[in-house]
Amino acid sequence: MASHNEAPILNAPAAVRWIVGLTVAVHVLRSLLPVPSDDWVLETFGFIPARYQAAAGGGNDLFAMVVSPFSHLFLHADWMHLTMNMAFFLAFGSAVGRRMGAAQLLILYFLCGLAAAFFWAYLYQPQQALLLGASGAVSGMVGAAARVSIWPPRHSSSAIPFWRRSTIITFVVIWLLLNVGFGIFPVLVSNSYSGIAWEAHLGGFIAGFVLIGAFDGRGRLMAVATPFGLQEGHRTMTQNYSTATAARPMDALESLLTRSSVPARMLREPAPDGAELEVILETAMRAPDHASLRPWRFLIIRGDARRQLGELFADALCRRDPLADGAAREKELSRPMRSPLIVVVCADIVEGNPKVPAVEQIVTCGAAAQNMLNAAHAMGYAGIMLTGKNAHDPFVKQALGLKPKDEIIGFLYFGTADGEARPKKRPAAASFAREWTGREPAA
Ligand SMILES: Cc1cc2nc3c(=O)[nH]c(=O)nc-3n(C[C@H](O)[C@H](O)[C@H](O)COP(=O)(O)O)c2cc1C
Repeated sequence: MASHNEAPILNAPAAVRWIVGLTVAVHVLRSLLPVPSDDWVLETFGFIPARYQAAAGGGNDLFAMVVSPFSHLFLHADWMHLTMNMAFFLAFGSAVGRRMGAAQLLILYFLCGLAAAFFWAYLYQPQQALLLGASGAVSGMVGAAARVSIWPPRHSSSAIPFWRRSTIITFVVIWLLLNVGFGIFPVLVSNSYSGIAWEAHLGGFIAGFVLIGAFDGRGRLMAVATPFGLQEGHRTMTQNYSTATAARPMDALESLLTRSSVPARMLREPAPDGAELEVILETAMRAPDHASLRPWRFLIIRGDARRQLGELFADALCRRDPLADGAAREKELSRPMRSPLIVVVCADIVEGNPKVPAVEQIVTCGAAAQNMLNAAHAMGYAGIMLTGKNAHDPFVKQALGLKPKDEIIGFLYFGTADGEARPKKRPAAASFAREWTGREPAA
């Protein structure tokens, strides 16, 4: 079966990569311009508060007035300025961006930049001064990260702080001191402006700190609040998931404690699709996996392919039991048609691994299947895991592209529950658990 994809080099959210790419591209293009043209770019797209004073006095440069509060974020004084801002943005923008959708991060970034520019203009009250650079918006990312780390939001989808509270408080104190040191100190001692727009940094920080409350956890199902520096190498498909397509996920524990299988015949359209299905598959990547063998493989079967699966089941029945009657064959034909979506969970067994026997790899795939059932339930869908003789039939396995050593772990049937499944009585967990306090003394 097909092997898994290689990890991408850069694991920053898409919106962060777009902003960094565009900002660097603008700087490269500017470096190719003759000086007078570059001066024109700076004057037109840089943020100049005097423009608004001129407008009040009858001046009229509407285009620059509207565009420059945003466009100045893409203009940098030199490569050092650009590198510093983009390095900070990659760190903090990525941490914040993992908690929301791409559109939300873009809006938050530009709002912080806007707030930073006007806060700077208000405090600094300069005449012809020019504000350049992304640092106001980047400071907004620092403020947003600080807020969710110090006061993690209550809603479960992003309740995991991505830095320890003490770490972020230390960082914010150092960051504020650096701003004071390099920004305010020269003004205090020699009344000379340092060139560092600390007012913009402060304005951006406050904006990010306040606004994150309205953006956090939005535009995606589950904010993957990975500890900074420990994020995994693979791209999370959840980054593009939109809550517009599903109800908000329920609390993780509530979801785990309320999942029940729903018979396949009670599963109707709609089934998870597109980004929702990607999220469900993404949860399978969180299954415990000894030696990272990633033995799981998934076949997604829907639409007309279900009819073909039914024909395969019917043929397999006839091979197993040449005397099978028409009713039995009909049952196999209609089996996959009961639900709109089937995900076949397979184990691509790595043979001869001295540390990870086949049974452990099957457990891993079972855990992946369970994660998927739980994820579907958390989204408001229902499902059930079924096997039966087809799952262990070499003819079926071969037709689905499996090798003899591989296993079908189960057929996951997904859809929307049509009515309530019969409630199942659950046993008390305590009757299956006991304390072990050491070996009994030998008699
Ligand atoms: C590997 C595996 C295979 C299963 N195969 C079947 C099956 O073929 N038919 C069936 O009725 N239930 C099967 N089940 C059980 C159902 O998936 C489900 O767990 C059961 O109906 C109990 O419902 P619950 O999940 O709400 O406890 C299987 C479970 C597992 C873990």
